[in-house]
Amino acid sequence: MSAWTASRIRASKGKGKLACLTAYDFATARQIDEAGIELILVGDSLAMTVLGYENTLPVTMEQMLHHTAAVARAVKNALVVADMPFMSYQVSPEQALANAGRFLKEAGAGAVKIEGGALRAPTIRALVDNGIPVLGHIGLTPQSLRELGGYRVQGRKPEQAEQLLGDAQTLERAGVFALVLECVPAALAQELTAIVSVPTIGIGAGPACDGQILVTHDLLGLYTAVAPKFVKRYAELGSQMSRAFAAYKREVEEGVFPGPEHAY
Ligand code: KIV
Repeated sequence: MSAWTASRIRASKGKGKLACLTAYDFATARQIDEAGIELILVGDSLAMTVLGYENTLPVTMEQMLHHTAAVARAVKNALVVADMPFMSYQVSPEQALANAGRFLKEAGAGAVKIEGGALRAPTIRALVDNGIPVLGHIGLTPQSLRELGGYRVQGRKPEQAEQLLGDAQTLERAGVFALVLECVPAALAQELTAIVSVPTIGIGAGPACDGQILVTHDLLGLYTAVAPKFVKRYAELGSQMSRAFAAYKREVEEGVFPGPEHAY
């Protein structure tokens, strides 16, 4: 079992910041794990970063299971969290339980993530009561893209902020071990972090959260879509890859590769 469990993440509140990232494949997950990242999310952002869809809605249970299993095979220390895809948990708590169970049983995840506020509390309770740790996700919830009308900062209006504070407390009571806060004003994230006893993990939610998460492809400069304001690029692997592919093509065409040292 991984060194980082859901209960250890929950107990880490107030004891330092959690650094979390997404991963979708074995090689990347191994490097992220070796860097000491505490929580690795197999995000449904898989749909866009790896599978080339426009948003997260089309990704299926089978695709999420396939990639979660690859990540879980690589990871020794981090908690591996599988993102429950659109329509795998909305129909009923029973449907959610059956699908969430597959992530632990078939793919080796240590927890699942579910998007949504108070509406999801009965589902989260059903999972937690059956031994499945749940990471909540409120604020901008990309699976509700159609209803939200786009990728927008959430909680700017006082009534929205009240709603988010209430959602956070309801999800805490339902048993989440931590809460992702996506695209909410930094001051609201600070207030929310202060009133819940579980760690908050921010993405576009300012510095007061108990931890941060980024989509690894954004951080590495691998995903070519325009990155949101909250992304910091720690590398430009996309341009490095383009240069490497062009150099390979040139060397093959010019007969430089393979050299004598590459031949049997
Ligand atoms: O799918 C994902 O990558 C996520 C993160 C943005 C939190 O949900």
